Amino acid sequence: MENKKIAVKEILALKNKRKITMLTAYDYPLASLLDKAGIDMILVGDSLANVVLGLKSTREVGMNEMLHHAKAVTRAARHALVIGDMPYESYQINPQDSVKNAQRFIEEAKCDTVKLEWFDGCLEVTKKVIKAGIPVMGHIGLTPQTADKLGGFKVQGKDAQAAQRLIKQAEDLEKLGCFSIVLECVPDKIAQLITQKLKIPTIGIGAGQYCDGQVLVIHDLLGLFERYTPKFVKKYIDLSPLILKAVEEYRNEVIQGKFPTKKYSFSIKEEELKKLADGTPLSLRR
Ligand code: KIV
Repeated sequence: MENKKIAVKEILALKNKRKITMLTAYDYPLASLLDKAGIDMILVGDSLANVVLGLKSTREVGMNEMLHHAKAVTRAARHALVIGDMPYESYQINPQDSVKNAQRFIEEAKCDTVKLEWFDGCLEVTKKVIKAGIPVMGHIGLTPQTADKLGGFKVQGKDAQAAQRLIKQAEDLEKLGCFSIVLECVPDKIAQLITQKLKIPTIGIGAGQYCDGQVLVIHDLLGLFERYTPKFVKKYIDLSPLILKAVEEYRNEVIQGKFPTKKYSFSIKEEELKKLADGTPLSLRR
């Protein structure tokens, strides 16, 4: 994959040309592989809370953790556009700090853009962040940071009225200048409607085949997250049992003295070893 960074305007230009690819990453090794594979956009998602930090809710992750991981990802991404996912505290609890926090993703962590989930004050905050010159990706449908207000982790927009609300949110975010919108857990035909109405790309997760692009959490795709698997996840490989097998083999070999063998050890010349063996301290020898 070429090292030239993909720009926001190139992402916009992909709409109706080819599907856009996006995955999450939280560290240097995985971000390097995603970048090498030619993934268009890497999201440093607040799903960090669940799949890396072992927390129950994405609300529990804060700016410090997000910036720490975002820095590792941007060190790796030579091609992919990197999106910093703004954590709950950074714009929903403290809307007055939203611009400052978005700037920290760009200036300190070297992200290219940020993502904000829909909430009551979303339009106001999005407007301010875009006005500060920071490209924003919107996120509507199932928004995990406020899932309690949506009746839990459920498909959104399942009746005409709810679907109409989603369409309006998408249109408002486009009007404000968002460069794309994530549609999470939305019926495929509603995602299609929104995708047709907007000029900016829609990125689906649990939103069917008609979106302009797709995103998955990398730990789900690799089979590295065993706590639960949503219906929309396709595991492209199941790494957990493979890792478990390798670690068990290592454990057994260490206990049985089978590892490390000579092949994995360093040597010293016999004559140097003999000098130690005659008992005279090296400092007294001539
Ligand atoms: O944090 C995350 O991983 C996300 C994706 C599910 C879009 O927001």
